[in-house]
Amino acid sequence: MDNVVDFINENRDRYVDELKQYLSIPSISALPEHSADMQACAEWTETELKAIGLENVRLITTPGNPVVFGEWTHSEYAPTILFYGHYDVQPVDPLDLWESPPFEATIREGEIYARGAADDKGQVFMHMKAVEACLSKNKRLPVNIKFILEGEEEVGSTHLDGFIRDHKDLLAADVVVISDSPMFDRGVPSICYGLRGLTYFQIDIKGSSSDLHSGSFGGAVANPAFVLAQILNQMKDRAGRIKIPGFYDDVRPLRTEEREEFGKLPFNEGRYRRDLGAPKLFGEKGYTTLERVWGRPTFEVNGLLSGFTAEGAKTVIPAVAMAKISMRLVPDQDPDKVANLFENYLKKVTPKTVELAISRMHGGKPWMTEFDNPYVQAAGRALQRGFGRQPVFNREGGSIPVVATFQEVLGLPSVLFGVGLPDENAHAPNEKLDLENFHKGVIASAVLYEEIGKLNLN
Ligand code: BES
Ligand code: MN
Ligand code: MN
Repeated sequence: MDNVVDFINENRDRYVDELKQYLSIPSISALPEHSADMQACAEWTETELKAIGLENVRLITTPGNPVVFGEWTHSEYAPTILFYGHYDVQPVDPLDLWESPPFEATIREGEIYARGAADDKGQVFMHMKAVEACLSKNKRLPVNIKFILEGEEEVGSTHLDGFIRDHKDLLAADVVVISDSPMFDRGVPSICYGLRGLTYFQIDIKGSSSDLHSGSFGGAVANPAFVLAQILNQMKDRAGRIKIPGFYDDVRPLRTEEREEFGKLPFNEGRYRRDLGAPKLFGEKGYTTLERVWGRPTFEVNGLLSGFTAEGAKTVIPAVAMAKISMRLVPDQDPDKVANLFENYLKKVTPKTVELAISRMHGGKPWMTEFDNPYVQAAGRALQRGFGRQPVFNREGGSIPVVATFQEVLGLPSVLFGVGLPDENAHAPNEKLDLENFHKGVIASAVLYEEIGKLNLN
């Protein structure tokens, strides 16, 4: 192992140069005008998997963006890791808030700034370099490994479930490894054992067939913007509790021991609030901040649009109003079931004065696992070696829909160890990855392969 770690230390600068190239490809899956970039990024990924020594490397077409596959499976008696990550990134708007261009990776104070630096290209690249180091020093890996890298994670992994169902043999493995989340805090590596699920909607409210003079018609018709506000107001009470009937039916209560464990984590609520720039934290009454973010469901408005929003004043009754709405879900809520509950309630609370159109967008199941399995223990040893500290166990509020699919369709446990940071600005301007964490993460990943390789399969 020492020779591999030496190799990683010697190649540090080269890794950064190569990562900059990867980050320069604007692989924004949400925007159709980037479809050529999606293909280019898939091809870059493919070329890289070949270069690091994986075999059977190829792009596998889906009805959407290709999945990139590669494997090395010559460790006959060792377990097989299925490594999952995504090469697509989020849109970059608002562009003017970026301190350096999102697709020209720039290093400032030990952090590399670019869209995708943390979510997820940087963390995928970390594993690529770990594989490269092992294969180039030892001509072999201590485990078997299969990479699948998708290009649609940020748009709901639309075609991935089908892909997994259709490729069960190709993907046969013992454990899934994912690095697509932040660690608990700077200097505090973590293993994530739970993710929230999601269900996402657009709702459109239509009043009149055209905008109306608010003097001539104000008082005669309902105002869609106002109706939308009234509808939203009926979704959650002042204590942050969601009012959709049946919404909480399948919510697994937080166990007392788990709440105690959350309480022991080195979480500084004051610093957290200040970092967010929020005057006061808010959420469901009766739960701590970590409990609310990790273990409780939410109802959020992601966007609102209606009426006159330019400078100055315009006396108008808007014809339409629109909202993007999503709910984060926890075990054992089912996205489809919750979506139905929401739609029924929404129809009930919408007055007859407007027309309502509901579009169901993507969704994903929540996931939670026991963390007493040998793979998680192995990850603990790997993080200890890479970061010099035992990891803590955490849950996360974000969603990676495919994790539940790996469990359900392939019967595989997942080990999530992310090396991002809570202030990594994922999905926001100035996304970044700490290069020291990246570097430690390459070492930890190489150690992880060795530690998993040591596990007896029986
Ligand atoms: N890497 C994130 C998921 C994540 C975020 C895990 C924070 C842990 C903590 C992923 O790329 C992501 O953004 N997922 C989306 C899923 C959605 C598009 C279905 C999310 O959580 O909004
Ligand atoms: Mn991600
Ligand atoms: Mn993301």
